[in-house]
Order: sequence, then structure tokens, then C-alpha cells
Amino acid sequence: MQILARLCISADGYVTTPNGWPPQVLDPVHGPGSHGIAEFLQGVEAAVMGRTTFEPALTNDRWPWPGLRVFVLGSHRPEGTPEDVVVEPDPERLLERLRAENRGGDVHLIGGPSTVETFRALGVLDKLELVVLPFLVGSGMRLTDSLSTATGLEFESSRALAGGSVEIVYRVRPDDAPATRRPDFDARQPQRP
Ligand SMILES: NC(=O)c1ccc[n+]([C@@H]2O[C@H](COP(=O)([O-])OP(=O)(O)OC[C@H]3O[C@@H](n4cnc5c(N)ncnc54)[C@H](OP(=O)(O)O)[C@@H]3O)[C@@H](O)[C@H]2O)c1
Repeated sequence: MQILARLCISADGYVTTPNGWPPQVLDPVHGPGSHGIAEFLQGVEAAVMGRTTFEPALTNDRWPWPGLRVFVLGSHRPEGTPEDVVVEPDPERLLERLRAENRGGDVHLIGGPSTVETFRALGVLDKLELVVLPFLVGSGMRLTDSLSTATGLEFESSRALAGGSVEIVYRVRPDDAPATRRPDFDARQPQRP
């Protein structure tokens, strides 16, 4: 089982709109299977996310994760949560449950950024997949509001998607891999032209 974080990001680097929605909801092509998700989900059997990302699904017209086992990291079980959704406050116990129930498929780590960082810090994040959307939103949440800037990324692939988005897939190197150690941004001097 691999844990694959996949998030949409606006061309100006935000993973939410100014009012907290995932930016892909503004895209005219947004819908079931859009932004490459249909192909991505072929090898996936479970979805994991933080409680903040999960809660809006409870009032959606359509359940967003049909056919997937859903796991939520959160301190409490939101009202109306279906019985078969696992809610767990401890990240390591949630990981144990994911592993115990796994039947060989991958896990889609939906987000948000703080839950991605939680799995990265546990050393179990295999890939970071970004879908860069062809528009700007101006403000919102950045991935690195939570995700460590020391995250080691190794390019794996990219492809253009219908509607003008671009998918970029990175392998995530573990914290102790030598290539992950990066210069300290604050200590680095700008180069004079
Ligand atoms: N662009 C995209 O594709 C995309 C995808 C997903 C989400 N999003 C956006 O991301 C935003 C939410 O991101 P977020 O980072 O604020 O929230 P989040 O990761 O969705 O959820 C955060 C919650 O998860 C639990 N949690 C996270 N890390 C934990 C840890 N180490 N230990 C225990 N519990 C932990 C906590 O729940 P409790 O508070 O219950 O303790 C925490 O408040 C939303 O606006 C959503 O729209 C965008």
C-alpha cells in the first residue's frame, strides 16, 4: 500500500479559495472524475483526510468517495458521520487501522495540508501529487502553511489534463535521506545579477 497525497493548487499557489473551498470547485470542468482523479483512483481502495476536509461532505448532495473506505483524523466524530467511516484522533493508530484493513490497494490522502504534514512527519507519505489549475485565486491557504518546506521531492512524472490543468507527481523522500537536507533559506544570500 502506498500513501498518495493529491491536491489541486491554483496557479498562484493556493490549495483553498479565499473562503476555504478547494480551488478546483471554481473550475468549469470540475465534476466526478475530473482533474485526472478517475485514472488516479484506479489503484486506490481508501481515502484518508483531516476532519476539516471531511466535514463539508456531510452536507453534500453527493457522497464524494463512493466505493472507497473512508478514514478521518479528528478528535471527535462529526454529527451525521456514516457508521462505516473510521474516525481516529491519534495519527499512529489511524495508520495502524489503515494498514490492518488494507487489501493491497493504495490510499488517497486527500488533505488538507496539516494532515499531509502529519503523515509526512510519520515518514509514510510516498507521493505528493499536485494538479496545477489554470487560474489564480489571489489568497487562501498554502500547502506550506502546514507542510514542512524541508519535504524532499523527487520528480516522477507530469501530464496535461483536460481543461488546462497540469498534474505533477513527486516521490517524497524520507526525512533522513541525504538529498532532503536543504540549505537554510534564511542563511542563504541572494545572488547578485
Ligand atoms: N486543494 C485541494 O485539493 C484540497 C484537498 C483537501 C483539502 N483542502 C482544503 O484544505 C483545508 C483544510 O486543511 P487543514 O490543513 O486546515 O485541515 P485538515 O488537514 O483537513 O484537518 C485538520 C484536522 O485534522 C486533525 N488533525 C490533523 N493533524 C493531526 C494530528 N497530527 N494529530 C491529531 N489530529 C490531527 C485535527 O482534527 P480535530 O480538530 O478534530 O482535532 C485537525 O483540526 C480546507 O479548506 C479544504 O478545503 C484542499
